[in-house]
Amino acid sequence: MTTSTSAEPTRRDFLYIATGAVAGVGAVATAWPLISQMNPDASTIAAGAPIDVDLSPITEGQAIKVFWRGKPIYIMNRTKKQIEEARAVNVASLPDPQTDQARVKEGHDQWLIVIGICTHLGCIPIAHEGNYDGFFCPCHGSQYDSSGRIRQGPAPANLPLPPYAFTADTKIKIG
Ligand code: FES
Repeated sequence: MTTSTSAEPTRRDFLYIATGAVAGVGAVATAWPLISQMNPDASTIAAGAPIDVDLSPITEGQAIKVFWRGKPIYIMNRTKKQIEEARAVNVASLPDPQTDQARVKEGHDQWLIVIGICTHLGCIPIAHEGNYDGFFCPCHGSQYDSSGRIRQGPAPANLPLPPYAFTADTKIKIG
């Protein structure tokens, strides 16, 4: 039985490999291989390598979709209205009670980052659709709010949050 971490290359592994290549040949000749080796290839990303996402092109009110481990990840730059709506909800009335604050990173309240897979039967919900300014799943009508919490329909749980961290004010690392 292997552990879950042993099969997954880490950022440190890439740095180590890249450093080894530089030591073997001249620094000028290896400048490009160093850069290319530090970007994991598609198969490595599919296997679970973290991905870096620059949030700066995403304007207020926009949502984009990226893929991590083959899963769609929605990144939404929420408007003040969306944040206010999410925070005005009586949490106890929710099917899967969670505060909005628990679903975003402190100090980065406008950024909602969720795995875009419906918790009912796995369809991909559509952003900015439905009655709650969040997500609508066209398969059986589940509706999620601007915090990605289930509000209506058969889905039993909120949209899951991927592991991520802010590495700068407008940069995140997912995974
Ligand atoms: S899969 Fe989304 S509502 Fe059924």
